[in-house]
Amino acid sequence: MTAPSTVLVTGGAGFIGSHTCVELLDHGYEVIVVDDYSNSTPQVFAQVERITDRFVGAVYELDIRDRASLSAVFDRHSVDAVVHFAAHKAVGESSRSPVEYYDANVGGTTSLLRVMRHHGVRQLVFSSSCSVYGDAARVPLDEAAPARPTNPYAASKWICEQILADVCARVPGFAVLCLRYFNPVGAHPSGQLGESPLGTPENLMPYLAQVAVGRKPDLRVFGDDYDTPDGTAIRDYLHVMDTAEAHRLALDHLADGPGMRIFNLGTGQGHSVLDVTAAFGVACGTPIPYRVVGRRPGDVAELVADAGAVARAWGWRPTRGLDDMCRDLWRFQRLHPLGYQLPARRHRFLPGRA
Ligand code: NAD
Ligand code: WQD
Repeated sequence: MTAPSTVLVTGGAGFIGSHTCVELLDHGYEVIVVDDYSNSTPQVFAQVERITDRFVGAVYELDIRDRASLSAVFDRHSVDAVVHFAAHKAVGESSRSPVEYYDANVGGTTSLLRVMRHHGVRQLVFSSSCSVYGDAARVPLDEAAPARPTNPYAASKWICEQILADVCARVPGFAVLCLRYFNPVGAHPSGQLGESPLGTPENLMPYLAQVAVGRKPDLRVFGDDYDTPDGTAIRDYLHVMDTAEAHRLALDHLADGPGMRIFNLGTGQGHSVLDVTAAFGVACGTPIPYRVVGRRPGDVAELVADAGAVARAWGWRPTRGLDDMCRDLWRFQRLHPLGYQLPARRHRFLPGRA
């Protein structure tokens, strides 16, 4: 197997996808993106190109469940490997709309796999999630911890992992690197690229950023009666650029051989909601107002990664800490208080890039 040079990024307009596009372009990869903009806008590519001073090879607006349109992209480009980010990711919404979540996340993945098989593409990096572990009996969690998804979003990721393991067991030469991210946050250090969710964010860091620019009056802290030192829940926050670097390394390591390998991506350091709130206040120069409310259904006290396996396998170790995550997110949010503007019209294809 040889290392890929042309990479198709599904969901490349999204938060982690766009930062990964920067990382790949900076390292000489040819990048092709497909995205339906269900949670993003094409404007992100102007930012990616400004940061890298390189062009994204081509950008297609399509839903990956549309196999004919997806197949046409593979007809047009000689794809070596796929990084598959495209999915819906809101845990709460997944409980309200489970069928839609399974359709988008599992149906999207099987559609992609069918098109890849048709075109003989056998290298895939898959976005999985620490949420597959559910309520952990103990932390830190290594990859051998049992999967116990507690909501349809997490279950959809676990089902995809099982499908991918099956495919690897049965299709000769198929290689999958499955990355279980803990809590990717932050923004590109330039301040030009970050998370620009459509609607009210469910996640802590983007919500804090909206409080800091005055779009929300205060943070609601979901519970201070957990069995943790300050009573608020603990998570393993990971800078999005460390996350992006792990994807570039994963592409290099797809060539190590066929089969499925699973790695946690986290720092191994836990921070409570109040730790993060205080750190963000320092980054933006003013304390963030908050009030404690009841626990959020489905939340757990503590999720922290044992990311030793990926360190041993590839030498990947996050280099950025909580202060970097807060500083970079604040820089982005200050420069883009309303996130990216929506485009005047949607593009099927950005002209002149193929
Ligand atoms: P995001 O919503 O910012 O990005 C996902 C992108 O995929 C968006 O641009 C969206 O428009 C696109 N998309 C969704 N469904 C699509 C479809 N059917 N066809 C084409 N495009 C589609 O989310 P993100 O935070 O960048 O997450 C990327 C991946 O990482 C997801 O698979 C998510 O489940 C996983 N993940 C995220 C986190 C996190 O905390 N952000 C943690 C663990 C795992
Ligand atoms: C972090 C902590 C909240 C918002 C989710 C998914 C997980 C992964 C990452 C995709 C929790 C608290 C939050 C707020 C708060 N995503 N909080 N007030 O829940 O750890 O993980 O995103 O795969 O699968 O489950 O992240 O950022 O939502 O919450 O107090 O307004 O902040 O209760 O303790 P979470 P989060």
